[in-house]
Amino acid sequence: MPGFFPRSFLSWPIITIIIITTQSLSSPKILSCSCSSSWCQHHNIHQHTNPKFQQKTTTFWEFEQESNTWVQVKLPYDLLSCVNNNCTKVGVIEPVSDDQTRIELGQNKIEGQRKKKVKTDERKIGALGSRNRISVTKMSDDSIWVSGVSGSIYERFWNGIQWVIAPHELPLQAGYAVYVFLVKHIVLALSEAGILYQMQLSENSQPIWVEFPVILDSSMAIRIKSGVISHNREKIYFCTKNGLLLELSDINTPRWLNHGKPPGADVAAIVDDAAEVIFTISSTGDLYEFDPSSKPLWKKHIWSQESTEYTALTPSTGCTVHRRTGPHSDSLFLLTKGGNLVERRLHQRKWKWVTHGSPKDQQFTAMTLMMTVDETHTSSFSLFLATTSGSIVQYYISKQEGKKTWVNHVHPPHAKVAKGVAGLQLQAGRLIFPLDDGRLGELHQSKTGGDEVGPSPPVNRRRVSTQYTWSIIDAPESEGWNAEYCTEDRGPLNCISGVKDEINGDETHRSGLRRRSGNKAHENYYLVSPGSKLKDEPDVDRESSVSVGVNFRLRVMYEGRSFFLVTVEGITYEYLDVENAWFWLKHEHAMGVRGVVGSYNGSLFLVNENKDLIVGERAGNDLTWINCSAMKKGRQVVGGPPWDVAPSKSPKVTLEDSLFFVGKSGGLLQLTVALKKLKWKDCRNPSNTKVASIVDQEVFRENIVFVVGMDGHLYQYNKVTGLWHGHHQSRHMVLSRQPGTAMRGSRQSLSGSLFMISEDGRLIEYYWNQMEGWGWVEHGIGIKRFGNGATGFPSTGNIVGENLEEEEVCVDQEIRVNTRKEYQKESENCDPKVAPTRPIPFTETSVIFELIDGRLAEMRRTDDLQWVWWRTIGTPTTRCNVIYWTAAAK
Ligand SMILES: *[C@@H]1O[C@H](CO)[C@@H](O)[C@H](O)[C@H]1NC(C)=O
Ligand SMILES: *[C@@H]1O[C@H](CO)[C@@H](O)[C@H](O)[C@H]1NC(C)=O
Ligand SMILES: *[C@@H]1O[C@H](CO)[C@@H](O)[C@H](O)[C@H]1NC(C)=O
Repeated sequence: MPGFFPRSFLSWPIITIIIITTQSLSSPKILSCSCSSSWCQHHNIHQHTNPKFQQKTTTFWEFEQESNTWVQVKLPYDLLSCVNNNCTKVGVIEPVSDDQTRIELGQNKIEGQRKKKVKTDERKIGALGSRNRISVTKMSDDSIWVSGVSGSIYERFWNGIQWVIAPHELPLQAGYAVYVFLVKHIVLALSEAGILYQMQLSENSQPIWVEFPVILDSSMAIRIKSGVISHNREKIYFCTKNGLLLELSDINTPRWLNHGKPPGADVAAIVDDAAEVIFTISSTGDLYEFDPSSKPLWKKHIWSQESTEYTALTPSTGCTVHRRTGPHSDSLFLLTKGGNLVERRLHQRKWKWVTHGSPKDQQFTAMTLMMTVDETHTSSFSLFLATTSGSIVQYYISKQEGKKTWVNHVHPPHAKVAKGVAGLQLQAGRLIFPLDDGRLGELHQSKTGGDEVGPSPPVNRRRVSTQYTWSIIDAPESEGWNAEYCTEDRGPLNCISGVKDEINGDETHRSGLRRRSGNKAHENYYLVSPGSKLKDEPDVDRESSVSVGVNFRLRVMYEGRSFFLVTVEGITYEYLDVENAWFWLKHEHAMGVRGVVGSYNGSLFLVNENKDLIVGERAGNDLTWINCSAMKKGRQVVGGPPWDVAPSKSPKVTLEDSLFFVGKSGGLLQLTVALKKLKWKDCRNPSNTKVASIVDQEVFRENIVFVVGMDGHLYQYNKVTGLWHGHHQSRHMVLSRQPGTAMRGSRQSLSGSLFMISEDGRLIEYYWNQMEGWGWVEHGIGIKRFGNGATGFPSTGNIVGENLEEEEVCVDQEIRVNTRKEYQKESENCDPKVAPTRPIPFTETSVIFELIDGRLAEMRRTDDLQWVWWRTIGTPTTRCNVIYWTAAAK
């Protein structure tokens, strides 16, 4: 029975939305933007460039390490040859007209020609990148374990009434997980750094991961790359990062053996084991056999005849089928580097190679075996092969040789199958494949699979039909998706055993019994290809329609202790609490400041009039200012995330902690800020539109940045997969180009809403809950009109609407009236109406607003959950100097 980690969630306060409506509005202005870095340095990128070639095509792709995707390059393009980081230009690709065609790539000719045949939709979306961290492992019929793109581990478990998701993440210092093994009831996880961890029970019966060391005689440090569990499930064979074959037996009293490597070669992957004989593939693509009972120990399987096809094998796991062509036959199915299916077959004591190839224009990257038992009680099998374009092709091999059937199951709508990752057979006729976007796809026979259907007993002996359909299985928030984690509470979402709710109706919703039908909930997304890299050129049309000043005038530096105010003139002041006395501190800058676009762990990110991103870090009493735009890959920015997740509310600190900004030319830029790394990455923009502003960064969904495009549509960028998705919305609904406000009731639940303003000034809500999935609500009744500065904030308390000029929605009337009377006594320079500046949550129970007269006002939540005006704060720039303190609400 699988255990689970109860996540220690920091509970989130109840949420308030405050909306300011205005009549007078300062004209919208934009600040600036930035971003681009490389955090995937672990992948070796082979850039085959040949100094001499004749150009035959006009479309070229470049592999981009940062986003792990292929990106179309702009011509002319310099070809570089790099040796030890010493790059020299060896050629250039010039733009040519389409009819000039001929490409010569020397010995890579066959490969090159295959690569050219990219399907049209792949061109549109961009080729798939490698997903090295993804794996799926079946523990039992009711449990599969997944390592995700983010390096998290989660379990999908049938609790008796529904599939639930339990988190099993490695400790932060272990880094990313890449694989999970289950042998003899022991669960091992492999980290990307090559270290094994074993799941154990702690003193208080909670599962914890403990390092599981590799113990060999030699003192060399062993880092594991991959592993394969033996067929009798007694042993695990591992391949190390330096190319050795290791064997682990007797897991309970671990025994390690080092089998070394084949003469003159290495072990890059283990294919499979077949009765004490282990097959491996070297990094050069040769097949080797290790047999501990024979001499020599290692044998190389060579291709006897000169083959016309490219015969080097892909170092990856293969599939073994026994007795395929007779009682003593064995078949190893392998893939070549060119994406063809080949078979190494042992028949009547003789080995031979059989090439099965691939359907026209398809290249295979991974395979999954499905064994089925048909009505004659004999087993037959199919191979399900993932292609470079993200589809699944089924290969059914009949007993009589020579009859090949390829059945293309394509992929689920708007989701491709991850490249190079094997799926698994959940049951006969049900297969699970990891998708490129971090979710899972289930390929199943109609009505016998999907998220709704539990593991059913294998009573169905009928011939497996070829009528398959796809269901998408949502992944947890660690991958940027919507699956909620199971809980320890009694109910349908319980991690061990689900209990149906006795209460009907609305209650089932709250307790999390899923009612959504399979694919419906996923029709909200559509995959959007990233646009080409934008030059750092300002887009005047964009700038004039996006308001920045009002959204980034105020920002908290330290919760409850210090915040910044940027004046209209571009001067920055800090309001600071020093031993319970509040001071205004002026900060000097070479150039006027337009706004504060981000804050992280005591660092503040400003944008100046030149659209440079300037980070301020405290050194004693002073702040030191660093020009981020001048850094490697640095850019200019015009906007940032509207809110910061307060450190005390952040679920965890990770090495990927980043701030996202809107670039000057309309791209999304990521700046990794964890440990002051300050690394830029260009996340681009949806290909059909530029980014107007960031609606929300990771308040609503971890790892997801919601943006509104210049076309008034909502898009999301997934920080983990680097993919863009659009959200379907009604054609007549056009969103304004303003940041939004995200609200989630609690960290435990993913239910919540994004609030945005439509172009015609209505309040728009986009919500998500377990029952209905995503949905749009157009509000606007009761609130007469929204100015462009309409804004909100995630904070505490109940829903409050605030409008000092017109009828407010619900605010304590009495306090309001008293406050107004007091204000009337003030001088003419005072105008205590709330300015259309975005307010900031200062603490959980306090919000700071700017007033029309330049002062600030603080609203606080009292013990009885009322929001009251607490005090006004005089500022260095206001001409109204009456500092007015309200009495604390009784
Ligand atoms: C880089 O390579 C070029 C050409 O091979 C050579 O002339 C130059 O000295 C090299 N520079 C360094 C710093 O190694
Ligand atoms: C910051 O760096 C950018 C890019 O190098 C430069 O254009 C700009 O003048 C710098 N700004 C400041 C205030 O130093
Ligand atoms: C937060 O700031 C402190 C103090 O500068 C620093 O030591 C720490 O590493 C920072 N944490 C992160 C996650 O950046």
